[in-house]
Amino acid sequence: APYETILVERDPENERVAVLTLNRPEALNALNLTVMDEVVAAAEALDRDPGVGCLMITGSERAFAAGADIKEMRPRGYPEMYLTDWFTAWDRLGQVRTPTVAAVSGYALGGGCELAMLCDILLAADTAVFGQPEIKLGVIPGIGGSQRLTRAIGKAKAMELCLTGRTMDAGEAERAGLVSRIVPAGELRAEALAVARTVAGMSKPVAMMAKEAVNRAFETSLAEGVRFERRLFHALFATADQKEGMAAFTEKRPPEFTHH
Ligand code: HXC
Repeated sequence: APYETILVERDPENERVAVLTLNRPEALNALNLTVMDEVVAAAEALDRDPGVGCLMITGSERAFAAGADIKEMRPRGYPEMYLTDWFTAWDRLGQVRTPTVAAVSGYALGGGCELAMLCDILLAADTAVFGQPEIKLGVIPGIGGSQRLTRAIGKAKAMELCLTGRTMDAGEAERAGLVSRIVPAGELRAEALAVARTVAGMSKPVAMMAKEAVNRAFETSLAEGVRFERRLFHALFATADQKEGMAAFTEKRPPEFTHH
């Protein structure tokens, strides 16, 4: 296998769906630098592949990821953290243009919660546990958690989680708006695959633009965001897939998108 800490497969039922599974069971999928490099490299390679329409990221039943690897970080000093720009490569996962689905079962703590929040659609098993407990280790989130959690669930809960380190169960995470849906743990993989297959069945450029438009909401004013959306919307009328999608509706048949 080309990777040490992750498994990368194609969905046998739909080759347009790629599944990336974190695979460090001995450390509850703790995110060390190898995991980071491998996840980012795999995601970027899949992103460049026009044959991939959706990327699902998952862990094990017990842990999506129990955080950044504490044992690896423990001996480091400030100059090294700064010089190596520790964890900045994770930002590249957020730059991936192909839609991503996180399927979270068990622990999604610290960097694990941050990794899930770097994905576009977050599905949780009823066993999922989310939190940013870094403060208990004498640090704070370092992969965007203070920003993405606050945008996702608001200041009140984000502050409480980041300041006390307490965790949220799946129900609280759903009510707070962190996850799109909760499913029974035994059905998580199948359900996430179903979502990924649905997304992968759309026109890839259209799905990419939908993702870009939603993400723009976090980066700009309402008026600019609406303008950005409208430019993309108009641009889509230059695609074959807009013609096909609307023709298929009119002709009462499923569309056959060509991703052009
Ligand atoms: C390294 C970890 C780990 C982690 C678990 N392990 N989490 N190793 N880094 N984040 C290891 C344990 O040391 C142990 O190894 C094995 O995985 C199993 O974990 P246990 O603790 O024995 O399991 P359990 O008792 O079930 O408890 C599960 C747990 C607990 C509640 C999730 O492991 C835990 O609290 N983990 C740390 C959670 C955390 O603080 N995450 C935030 C990390 S900081 P051995 O060898 O003993 O079997 C972070 C910072 C982000 O993410 C950015 C900062 C720059």
